[in-house]
Amino acid sequence: MAISFPWFYGSKPLLLFHVSILLISGLSLGTGTGTGTVDYGSDEVFADVLRDEAVDRIHQLSKISDGDGYLERTFLSPASIRAANLILSWMQDAGLRTWVDPMGNVHGRTESVNPTAEALLIGSHLDTVIDAGMYDGTLGIICAISALKVLKNTGKLDELVRPVEVIAFSDEEGVRFQTTFLGSAAIAGILPESALKISDKNGVTVEEVLKENSFEATEESLTQVKYDPKSVWGYIELHIEQGPLLESLGYPLGVVKGIAGQTRLKVIVRGSQGHAGTVPMFMRQDPMAASAELIILLESLCKHPENFLTYDEKCGGFPKESLTGLVCTVGEISSWPSASNVIPGQVNFTIDLRAIDDMAREAIMLEFSNRAQQICNKRMVNCTIDRKHNAEAVKCDPLLSEQLKYAARSALGKMSTEAANYQHEIPVLMSGAGHDSMAMSHLTKIGMLFIRCRGGVSHSPDEFVLDDDVGAAGLALLKFLQNNMMISVT
Ligand SMILES: *[C@@H]1O[C@H](CO)[C@@H](O)[C@H](O)[C@H]1NC(C)=O
Ligand SMILES: *[C@@H]1O[C@H](CO)[C@@H](O)[C@H](O)[C@H]1NC(C)=O
Ligand SMILES: [Zn+2]
Repeated sequence: MAISFPWFYGSKPLLLFHVSILLISGLSLGTGTGTGTVDYGSDEVFADVLRDEAVDRIHQLSKISDGDGYLERTFLSPASIRAANLILSWMQDAGLRTWVDPMGNVHGRTESVNPTAEALLIGSHLDTVIDAGMYDGTLGIICAISALKVLKNTGKLDELVRPVEVIAFSDEEGVRFQTTFLGSAAIAGILPESALKISDKNGVTVEEVLKENSFEATEESLTQVKYDPKSVWGYIELHIEQGPLLESLGYPLGVVKGIAGQTRLKVIVRGSQGHAGTVPMFMRQDPMAASAELIILLESLCKHPENFLTYDEKCGGFPKESLTGLVCTVGEISSWPSASNVIPGQVNFTIDLRAIDDMAREAIMLEFSNRAQQICNKRMVNCTIDRKHNAEAVKCDPLLSEQLKYAARSALGKMSTEAANYQHEIPVLMSGAGHDSMAMSHLTKIGMLFIRCRGGVSHSPDEFVLDDDVGAAGLALLKFLQNNMMISVT
């Protein structure tokens, strides 16, 4: 069967990295200027709010951590609660009505002259990975609040044609419960009730964490969190690129065309625990050695899928392009009892698998699980592979993307003394990283803007975004609101 490949417009990608794939239409490489020089002389760019205050707030949030000397905020941790309170106060400062929902998501909303109109939602996540960077998630929340604050300061908040709501999601990274999007999935109405029973490493369940923080954790409370699709017009998210493409092109902003699908698996390998000194090699059922073989198998599969899958389209294989950007990672492994002189009895590890083509991703998973069973049988260990998280690839709404692109272009045009450099099309990217917009796509149409980051580095304290690029992102969002959400187009 032919697998369609919707992100490639028929033109070939010029560049391919492991995290994102770029689509270029009419864009000449090398016209950008890297950092550029930004002229903040004009009042129209609202640098005091969109850049300076936004950057200051990003720094403030980066200091709110559960870790000592590094940034870590997981679902409803003490630092997450403190961060949520700070975000609430900033939302209020921007003239928004605020509340926290039963899943810990923070909301700030402004009604419009037309309060029954479908709402525009703008959001990103307030949780982080362990030893995180300060822009991931935070940037999108802060820029949204800043753009609305400018509307408030200029007396335009009352002129919105539809309600606009900023949401800071409580869980996107899924660090604590190994399942992403607890916050946005609940709002989108795709979080199953069973999610409340998932437990973290210490055996504490989502339900218990919610109750500890005086949230009700019942079926009804989940229903309360869920939005009615009829009440929502669309969802927009600004996020750092987390990849190197915008920087290499010299563009501060890019429009996202779609997000790769992803699967997270948990593999449990059970063997026979024993004394490291006395059990002869040939009698061992060692889950650690078996895990090593499984991990190498996974690497080979994702590095050279052509050696494992058939590519003949006529005979039900895959067109080669459908596996472009395929990436697999084992990032966490634990063993029991984890002692240097004991053959482990059990080893657990995680698998993160991403691809832009859903069927290709399924095929890789199936191939892995078949070959894994053979390895486990051969080694006489028991293996179970559990799917912990599954998100299909998502396409962004073409019209929203056009509107964002136009807004980004006018923002960059306003800001740069070298505006001529930005006369070309804004780059269009594919996201290899998952985002709340994946969950929100089940509720409404989505659009995303990416912001350039240094060296493509993310999920690291080295994550860095230029102050001017933070300002550019906020201005692009402001332009989007001004162009599409105001009674009188300014
Ligand atoms: C694997 O599972 C089977 C059936 O449950 C059991 O008999 C066997 O002892 C297990 N082997 C190991 C190494 O855990
Ligand atoms: C592996 O995962 C299972 C199921 O979640 C858990 O019971 C067990 O303690 C884990 N073992 C290790 C070594 O982490
Ligand atoms: Zn993120």
